[in-house]
Amino acid sequence: MEDTPAAAPSAPAASLSSETGASPGHGGKLRLDALSAFYGPKKAIDSVSLDFPAKTVTAIIGPSGCGKSTLIRCLNRMHEVTPRATVTGHAILDGEDLYEMDATLVRRRIGMVFQKPNPFPTMSVYDNVAAGLKLNGERNRARLDEAVIRSLKGAALWDEVKDNIHGPGVRLSGGQQQRLCIARALAVEPEVLLMDEPCSALDPIATAKIEQLIRTLKEKYTVIIVTHNMQQAARVAEFTAFLYLGKLIEFGPTGDMFERPKEKLTEEYITGRFG
Ligand SMILES: Nc1ncnc2c1ncn2[C@@H]1O[C@H](COP(=O)(O)OP(=O)(O)OP(=O)(O)O)[C@@H](O)[C@H]1O
Ligand SMILES: [Mg+2]
Repeated sequence: MEDTPAAAPSAPAASLSSETGASPGHGGKLRLDALSAFYGPKKAIDSVSLDFPAKTVTAIIGPSGCGKSTLIRCLNRMHEVTPRATVTGHAILDGEDLYEMDATLVRRRIGMVFQKPNPFPTMSVYDNVAAGLKLNGERNRARLDEAVIRSLKGAALWDEVKDNIHGPGVRLSGGQQQRLCIARALAVEPEVLLMDEPCSALDPIATAKIEQLIRTLKEKYTVIIVTHNMQQAARVAEFTAFLYLGKLIEFGPTGDMFERPKEKLTEEYITGRFG
């Protein structure tokens, strides 16, 4: 946690009250129960319990180094890919423990979009979107075409690429590339979509498009978005979780958290006193 500013107040020693970790009552799609994550001996996530409600957007906010990326990487079994990285506790998807499921299946059901758009560099727009399906063994051209079109429409990119769908994915603008990565994630029909600061490399116009898209995605998907930007959390997320030094400090409806934070640390963070 070397990124934590020295002037920041220390996290409360006591664990969360059940109130702050409680489900907001929308029916949890993904439930964390005392989830901790380590890099070797170092604990980066400290016993986080929280319900991500189905078909809503939940934002994860907190200062640099507080564990936002680590937390979401635990949710699609990416954390364990790092050498010496381990997880304890439970992450339950529709009643099933992710850590007792096949990791490949978890990554199909829980898709991820990264901070920097990362289309496969040698592939066309079409092949980028079809890649996951082909990896899963789909060879039927008509079904691939249908999935590619559906995913590009779902990612609000179709109109911009339909005339050059076999052109290289990397020739698209940054914002288009990020929507291409969203289309690629949607192609395998995930249930949950994780996004780690998906707009941080984008200009305000591209950001607005992605935010608009995120608001429509929640009709079908449970979306979890890491953001540094509290205005962005306020614009797109019904629920917000505030992490600090690996602990969940507060979780609740975004408006309540920003207008009437329950915890002093949350208030200090959202009013810009640290982070
Ligand atoms: N591969 C790694 N090996 C060891 N420690 C790591 C590794 N990746 C992250 N950490 C540590 O884990 C903690 C949480 O890091 P993480 O990247 O999850 O934070 P973050 O909230 O996403 O930060 P940022 O806002 O800067 O992206 C930090 O103290 C970081 O130094
Ligand atoms: Mg991060």
